[in-house]
Amino acid sequence: MSRVKVCEIGDAPAPGEAKRFPVDGRLVALVNLGDEGLRAIDAICSHAHYFLDEGDVDADFETIECPKHGSSFDLNSGKPRSLPATTPVDVFPIMTEDDDIYIEV
Ligand code: FES
Repeated sequence: MSRVKVCEIGDAPAPGEAKRFPVDGRLVALVNLGDEGLRAIDAICSHAHYFLDEGDVDADFETIECPKHGSSFDLNSGKPRSLPATTPVDVFPIMTEDDDIYIEV
């Protein structure tokens, strides 16, 4: 595992939103759960490779819904909670240092 910078804190998504960043050769979605903090998840849906960060964030259930076919993914485990997706996506530990946000990949 190595620590890779995602963005500066000022570029993080607003509460209840997600934002996609290129990180270390992959696309990662940062998701802001408000009081529950940030999550980092693979930005590409495991079902048909659509952008998860363009889906709706549910801060209460800590999920994001793929806008293509509606699978909901757990932002803590990466596991799909609803069909049609059946394969988990990667999730990444997040840390901040000074004004920057990093993930472990
Ligand atoms: S592409 Fe995401 S559920 Fe089909």
